[in-house]
Amino acid sequence: METILSVEKIEKYYGNKGKKGNITKAMDDISFQVKEGEFVGIMGPSGSGKTTLLNCISTIDHVTTGKIIINGQDVTGLKKKALETFRRDELGFIFQDFNLLDTLTAYENIALALTIQKRGETEIDSMIQKVAEKLGITEILGNYPFQLSGGQKQRVASARAIVTEPSLILADEPTGALDSKSSNMLLESFEKLNQEFGSTILMVTHDSFTASYANRILFIKDGRIFNELVRGNDTRKQFFNKIIEVVALLGGDVGNVL
Ligand SMILES: Nc1ncnc2c1ncn2[C@@H]1O[C@H](COP(=O)(O)OP(=O)(O)OP(=O)(O)O)[C@@H](O)[C@H]1O
Ligand SMILES: [Mg+2]
Repeated sequence: METILSVEKIEKYYGNKGKKGNITKAMDDISFQVKEGEFVGIMGPSGSGKTTLLNCISTIDHVTTGKIIINGQDVTGLKKKALETFRRDELGFIFQDFNLLDTLTAYENIALALTIQKRGETEIDSMIQKVAEKLGITEILGNYPFQLSGGQKQRVASARAIVTEPSLILADEPTGALDSKSSNMLLESFEKLNQEFGSTILMVTHDSFTASYANRILFIKDGRIFNELVRGNDTRKQFFNKIIEVVALLGGDVGNVL
């Protein structure tokens, strides 16, 4: 399988390195790879650097040192214009707070990503119908965000992220604002996307249950990779039990949440 993402010895400092006392080392020598078709979870306590890592991979933030190679391209060296094109064509984002445009219907929100790519109306329509069916949102495509539940909004946001068939889907706490039923539906959608579309997913989460849908989990502590778990042939339940063991080691509750 082809390597989609290669993170090579990245470090990230916040604050002014010249001034003593106000520097935070948010990432410390992180390296890992993600292959095509993998579903990787990133877990770790609050403040461990998960969002920083995801933001650097999604090119929203910059690393201090190291390289991030996505689909053969080192994104740490890209300039503004090239970055915009790269983000539009190669990446799909799913945020905790959905980021849907209130004045557009679900359909129009999803179409936006394709319109920007200058695709034709017929092609756009067939791509949207296909993805809507996969995510179970065909019935609500005509609704505006205020007419949707949290779970439905999150699935519309997911449809928007994947409709362009990005090389890499990045999700930061995608179930963070959802109740357990909506979380389950979204995670089943992710599983389907991963297994049937072959989408490569990198997902940050606090939640062991959410993480148990991934095939591999990287645990981060104090800006470093602390442990790695591979699901292999485990059932999701078995994998979940292994996850909570590591979470306990990391100093979290043995419950659902770190
Ligand atoms: N813009 C910033 N300026 C300065 N420090 C920052 C900034 N963003 C994050 N940090 C610091 O970097 C560290 C890692 O933060 P990050 O947001 O990546 O953690 P996280 O693992 O996503 O936490 P959470 O689970 O609470 O979302 C923390 O110590 C945080 O205070
Ligand atoms: Mg975070």
